Amino acid sequence: MAAKKLLILPGDGIGVEVMAQVRRIIDWLGKRRKIEFDLSEGLIGGASYDVHGTPLSDGTLAEALAADAVLLGAVGGPKWDNLPFQFKPERGLLKIRKEMGLFANLRPATVFDALAEASTLKAEVVSGLDIMILRELTGGLYFGEPRGIETLPDGSRKGVNTLVYTTEEVRRIGRIAFELARKRNKRVCSVDKANVLECTVLWREEMIKLQQEEFQDVELSHMYVDNAAMQLVRNPKQFDVMVTENMFGDILSDCAAMLTGSLGMLPSASLGAPDATGRRRALYEPVHGSAPDIAGKDMANPLATILSFAMCLRYSFDLAEEADMIEAAVKAVLKGGLRTGDIMQVGKAKVSTTVMGEAVVRELDKMI
Ligand code: NAD
Ligand code: IPM
Ligand code: MN
Repeated sequence: MAAKKLLILPGDGIGVEVMAQVRRIIDWLGKRRKIEFDLSEGLIGGASYDVHGTPLSDGTLAEALAADAVLLGAVGGPKWDNLPFQFKPERGLLKIRKEMGLFANLRPATVFDALAEASTLKAEVVSGLDIMILRELTGGLYFGEPRGIETLPDGSRKGVNTLVYTTEEVRRIGRIAFELARKRNKRVCSVDKANVLECTVLWREEMIKLQQEEFQDVELSHMYVDNAAMQLVRNPKQFDVMVTENMFGDILSDCAAMLTGSLGMLPSASLGAPDATGRRRALYEPVHGSAPDIAGKDMANPLATILSFAMCLRYSFDLAEEADMIEAAVKAVLKGGLRTGDIMQVGKAKVSTTVMGEAVVRELDKMI
């Protein structure tokens, strides 16, 4: 592969702090594994607004479109919460996802053995958990038209968002779900609200057709989203791949994060359609946000971002061995008893973001 173009967008709040730990691993890969990236760093979210007056500048978007992969921290914070809607940090994130065509958001929830006791659920409910939430990321309620806030003739106001999916949008995310399941336990649960919302009646019908036409070797089941939320905390191990609408997936993945011990543990990969050479645009980011309550205190858990970087190495750069090493290093650090404050476990040492990042690098050092 030619130069590996990697764009880093730390964003706001703890995004900056957790990304600094990924930089340690990138340095380590260069020094100890001779893996060099053509690296650039840019602004997104509030940080971009402060400098450029927009949460995503054309220049940064152009760099993202030209990169082999983008690594993102998090955006948002109280400083920007009262800006006009189009200037909010979150608009920058939604725009980059849309413009890069990243319709498939993979949010794997796996429980590391050392953290089975750290979940707010009983250890036997979560130990060994390995599920994949596949969230549709460029359609659905987040992007449907019409949308907006309107003032009516009587002076009252109306807020509108629209849930919309086309056949093609459903089929392309469905295909990814079935392909992922083929490499796992061959079970897809499609999560919808087909008892109430016509759009998701279409979603369900298209999933059934696709399975019949192309994926008969994969089992397909359906579940209403309210039940799915309940089942995730009742018995999460019943699932293999869950595929769902944009906003349903946003909510269910935060819920699934707590099964793993903390929101600070869940990584994600957002992928586009393959081009003629088979290359997919890709962005990797933790599932969590900018955590204003702990930002700037060196308290955040950097592991979700570190694990997102491992996904980046695996999916965008064909560096499965290094991805395995990073995942093993994270496992070893947790086994050794280190915990950031978000992981509630009595009797374990509480460490800072920096100490956690350094510990992962130390474990990597032991492997070569
Ligand atoms: P959040 O995910 O930022 O935080 C929720 C809670 O989890 C907080 O108590 C926080 O301290 C904790 N937390 C999150 N990540 C953590 C980590 N790595 N280590 C330790 N604790 C962690 O969600 P929120 O509070 O609802 O949102 C805060 C801001 O982040 C908002 O502006 C929101 O829009 C934005 N946000 C951004 C993204 C993103 O960039 N992808 C995702 C979610 C929220
Ligand atoms: C996420 C976040 C974003 C989303 C926000 C910040 C736009 O919650 O990545 O899960 O809703 O997609
Ligand atoms: Mn979210």
